[in-house]
Amino acid sequence: MTDDIRIRRTAQSKLGQVDWNHLPFGRIFSDHMLVMDYADAAWQTPEIVPYGPISMQPCNATLHYGQTIFEGMKAIRAADGRITLFRPELNARRFNESCQRLCMPSIDEARFVELLKALVRCERDWVPASAESSLYLRPFLFATDELLGVRPSETYKFMVIACPAGAYYAKPVSVKIEEHYTRAAEGGTGRAKTAGNYAASLLPTKLAHDEGFDQLIWTDGKEHRYIEESGTMNLVLVIDGVILTPSEDSDTILRSVVKRSVVDLAKHWGLPVEERRISVEELVAAIRDGRLQDAFGAGTAATIAPIAEIGLRGERFALPPVETRTLSTRIKAYLDGIKSGAIADELGWCVEV
Ligand code: COI
Repeated sequence: MTDDIRIRRTAQSKLGQVDWNHLPFGRIFSDHMLVMDYADAAWQTPEIVPYGPISMQPCNATLHYGQTIFEGMKAIRAADGRITLFRPELNARRFNESCQRLCMPSIDEARFVELLKALVRCERDWVPASAESSLYLRPFLFATDELLGVRPSETYKFMVIACPAGAYYAKPVSVKIEEHYTRAAEGGTGRAKTAGNYAASLLPTKLAHDEGFDQLIWTDGKEHRYIEESGTMNLVLVIDGVILTPSEDSDTILRSVVKRSVVDLAKHWGLPVEERRISVEELVAAIRDGRLQDAFGAGTAATIAPIAEIGLRGERFALPPVETRTLSTRIKAYLDGIKSGAIADELGWCVEV
């Protein structure tokens, strides 16, 4: 139910200024944004208003203690003009799991999806037509109490902003296995999509960039022995014909919607899949022996991102040529196909707005 949303449209659309052939990730924002405040222990009336600055006091709790979470989703235009969201109910569930970990008020899952759909309907002209591009949606929630005391805020702001964007990674990525810094410890916030996890990753990722890598592969915080996830995506490997991905049993790995879809699809196709701990040693031995057949990142922004090279302790291992990789090629073709409408969406993953 979204009849209660108040809509105030911009008098001046920015659509005419967009270069649709050049859509860098996260830099161009659509005309409107959704805003819904939480106060007096209840969600207030949502509003869709022109995209623009928000004001806050310097003592805003989020600025000091980072009580904030976010999601990443995409609105895609099919060849026949229909616009869909990909498994938005999984984002709604993960959003609420993050809320729970960060002591924030949840949003009813169906309501979350309806709010997202309402913004996309308003911004439908901002959904790119090209197959590789989409309208990236960034729902986020942050504390708004004006107080320097350390305690959960009593007021919050939920917002959704949208940006037309092309591929996050323009080419296969080079990743370094990180054995010193830690992304998430057991009992910490690794499973939540919260800003602090990303802030803590900036220095190690910068150091990896300085060495010529695009991203890191994080290892567990206890022994740095098992691979966990990459900075902007989760990991999938194929070794000896078996699809492997780090299990999400611990609370250190973010539950990726795209990674879950890869696993669901592989099972649906009857392919062997194992969700379990994967040691650095096992991965490197498989690369050295030529038993690693595929390796890719899976994420909303990253989509299916082939990994070209893995670095460890000063060594760099080139992975098999992307053209030889049957799993990632098949998965990407299937996901692109259901989104464009070229393939029947038999699992009902693309939800029309
Ligand atoms: C997403 O894939 O939506 C993400 O949130 C990753 C982002 C940090 C680029």
